[in-house]
Amino acid sequence: QAGIITLDRGFKNTGSCESAITFLDGEKGILRYRGYAIEDLAEKADFLEVAYLLIFGELPTKEQLDKFYSDIQDESEVDEEMKKILDGFPKSAHPMGVLSSLTSALIAFNPSSVDVSSEADMYKAIVKILGKFPVLAAWTLRKKKSDPLNYGDDSLGYVENLHKMMFEKPGKKYSVDKAVINALDKLLILHADHEQNCSTSTVRMVGSSHAGLFASISAGISALWGPLHGGANQAVIEMLEKIKEDGGDTKKFMAKAKDKEDPFRLMGFGHRVYKNFDPRAKIIKKSADEVLGQLGIDDPVLDIAKGLEKEALEDDYFVKRKLYPNVDFYSGIIYRALGIPVEMFTVMFALGRLPGWIAQWREMRLMKEPIGRPRQIYIGEGHREFKNVDNR
Ligand code: SDX
Repeated sequence: QAGIITLDRGFKNTGSCESAITFLDGEKGILRYRGYAIEDLAEKADFLEVAYLLIFGELPTKEQLDKFYSDIQDESEVDEEMKKILDGFPKSAHPMGVLSSLTSALIAFNPSSVDVSSEADMYKAIVKILGKFPVLAAWTLRKKKSDPLNYGDDSLGYVENLHKMMFEKPGKKYSVDKAVINALDKLLILHADHEQNCSTSTVRMVGSSHAGLFASISAGISALWGPLHGGANQAVIEMLEKIKEDGGDTKKFMAKAKDKEDPFRLMGFGHRVYKNFDPRAKIIKKSADEVLGQLGIDDPVLDIAKGLEKEALEDDYFVKRKLYPNVDFYSGIIYRALGIPVEMFTVMFALGRLPGWIAQWREMRLMKEPIGRPRQIYIGEGHREFKNVDNR
């Protein structure tokens, strides 16, 4: 026998790599980026600082951060030809499918970003994707709204520039409440990395064949799209809206979620690693109250969400299975308050996760990880003789 192969569906008990980037303790609800507590980073850092920390391992000095951002700005132009690819999509296309395709298409206009053996080459590919991805995300939204495609404004910070690109109206002076940018910045930080989740494992797997950073990120976007993963933030709002339309009867939906015959799940609940609470959900729940208060918004689905959480905490089925709100449960309520359309919620998750995907891809390449190639337990037919079609 070549060696013992143990089957581990969903890799629940398999470590795929060694990593120094993010630390999770599922029992204690601890999340740290490069040793810094998520609570500190969410309160005291800004998103680009956290991106630098995740990718290069240290909090940047002012000079390092300024150079990083100016290198990103120098690479934020997207080739005009890319607009033709965007035009090929129907307006009804889901932004995650558009973005995964556009990210892959970037390779054609930046061929040197594929074969990156030196750290210098990796750095160039990294600032390119950090510069261009927000443009592609904004264009994807603008295409849906039939707004003219635009370019960034170097006088603004990374997150404000993203917001401006998404929402500025032709001929109108752009202005935004600082509370909106602060809330967006915090949400992006909270989504920035999460060790070996489904989409990050996908980025590592594709990157392990040396397909390049952009191809790996494109694959990660597709993995994140699924409703069991990043797509849950869109599914949560759709579920809360359904409960609201149904008269706010949370007990009925709790019962559906426990009915094994019913494929319905309480979206935004449960987590593979966190078995007591998701520290990000705690911060986002508090931030939702703050942001809606600052913006003077009263969103009834926030009360429905809180009602569901309260019921779940008192429900044996949920408590026994350790099902608590995860990062996706409250985030959509803030995105909606910030005027972000629901089909863009998972794009916001991808914009936040981008530095984490980059950091994990870079670590995998610098550690010279081998190509990912798991084995299987074969359960198919034994050897069979071939029969011609006439005698089958
Ligand atoms: C993210 O991995 C990460 O770190 C992901 C993420 C990140 O930052 O990258 O944190 C982001 O993806 C958060 C999760 C978003 N997904 C959802 O909210 C979708 C709803 N949640 C579930 O589908 C589920 O909880 C998962 C996918 C999150 C976790 O799935 P697991 O670990 O494979 O757990 P499971 O499906 O085996 O469930 C265990 C039990 C089962 O019941 P039994 O068969 O034991 O009787 O709990 C039940 C499940 O039926 N269950 C749920 C439930 N989640 C699990 N029942 C009702 N509603 C739910 N949401």
